[in-house]
Amino acid sequence: MKNRYAIVLAAGRGTRMKSNLYKVLHPVVERPMVQHVVNQLQPLALEKVVTIVGFGAEAVQETLGDQSSFVVQEEQLGTGHAVQQAEDMLQHMEGTTLVVCGDTPLIEAETFQALVDHHEQTNAKATILTAQAPDPAGYGRVIRNEHNEVERIVEHKDASDAELLVSEINTGTYCFDNKALFHALQHVSNDNAQGEYYLPDVIQILKQQAETVGAYMTADFEETLGINDRVALAEAEVIMKRRINEKHMRNGVTIIDPSNTYIGMDVEIGQDVIVHPGSMIYGVTKIGENSVIGPHTEINNMNIGERVVMKQSVAMDSTIANDVHVGPYAYIRPKTNVLDHAKVGHFVEVKQSTIGEGSKIPHLSYVGDAKIGNHVNVGCGTITVNYDGREKHETIIEDGAFIGCNANLVAPITIGEDAFVAAGSTVTKDVPSEALAFGRARQANKEGYAKSLKKQDK
Ligand code: UD1
Ligand code: CA
Repeated sequence: MKNRYAIVLAAGRGTRMKSNLYKVLHPVVERPMVQHVVNQLQPLALEKVVTIVGFGAEAVQETLGDQSSFVVQEEQLGTGHAVQQAEDMLQHMEGTTLVVCGDTPLIEAETFQALVDHHEQTNAKATILTAQAPDPAGYGRVIRNEHNEVERIVEHKDASDAELLVSEINTGTYCFDNKALFHALQHVSNDNAQGEYYLPDVIQILKQQAETVGAYMTADFEETLGINDRVALAEAEVIMKRRINEKHMRNGVTIIDPSNTYIGMDVEIGQDVIVHPGSMIYGVTKIGENSVIGPHTEINNMNIGERVVMKQSVAMDSTIANDVHVGPYAYIRPKTNVLDHAKVGHFVEVKQSTIGEGSKIPHLSYVGDAKIGNHVNVGCGTITVNYDGREKHETIIEDGAFIGCNANLVAPITIGEDAFVAAGSTVTKDVPSEALAFGRARQANKEGYAKSLKKQDK
């Protein structure tokens, strides 16, 4: 096997995106598109990956970190000029160089591998990854001679009417004999419609030098989609989302409406989970078997157990154990830990709290900075008063306690094991185990008072 290198082109401004964010940093399913490209190069175990950066150089470098080396292209004079920037790093190397655009995030490692293998097997100096485009507008066209051999690539803006009819496009991905590449680049001019040094011109130059130039056509045009504007960005999002959803469905997850279900790259979902429409599951998330998610549920960085039911809710950076009921309309904020068989019911917000086994917060509560033991009942409308305007304080509710409706638990406070808090109480002092706390005005009834008022009205 030859030494293999890759050059990732990521210096362009991306004018057509009309954005302050550099094109290759626009995310497709959570990750900047250039990150997808570099991730898909990883399995090829290349000697070196060099990313050409220009616009947003620092941000791109920060994104890719040590997955790549970097060279700055000070002026964006075209894709050929961009590759030339890697000259100092690569020109003397023997081997194969894969050139990939940072704006084609859907190409998978298997396709890169197939291209490299084909290139090396055919002993070519250059091999273009091509595809048949249903609508080739905007792409460079692959021009073949009467023997069906690749002659050159013509850019859309430079193409004749006849050439515009060609549907085989240059995907912007190529394999080169490394030395031949840098040699040929010296002959590329900018005499074209865009006044740029085009990388694809290398093909024609090598062909004229009677070198072997070929093409490897991928069956899947969709995979090679180049993102130049937000219309293509949205298309890429749909395609990648579909791939992810299909993977989960094949693994035994039921997705009721895949076109309306959004799942990130780092999500693991157990068998027989049902995901209802409008659900967005992102971040590093795990969902155990037989859980039911959604409809309209937003999940980010969650560890969710088995047989959990979660409806119309938002949850992030937290853990939910098995057999838990969440929602409808619950909000689980970071550092929450909900244990087995607990319930976080409708219009309940929980933040940085532990909800013990079998404990229930069925409706309309705020629980923040609390440690709730096992088998606690938190009545409707109960609030942990955790914030005094300066600091957050902790509420501890021990096992088996019963908090009546509409209680205010003014933290720091501890409600002891099996204690009772009367409905409507504002509790400011610790409640001992098994005690009843009563923190509200006593009711007084004035017999006949209403009746006498009615008489006055007459
Ligand atoms: C390019 C190809 C076209 C191909 C298409 C596939 C050229 C001249 N054309 O066109 O044949 O069909 O990709 O998607 O190569 N870049 C730099 N420095 C530059 C210019 C561009 O790093 O000076 C980078 C961009 O950031 C981008 C990539 O190169 O990631 C491609 O550039 P772009 O302007 O998008 O080329 P296309 O017009 O799409
Ligand atoms: Ca492009």
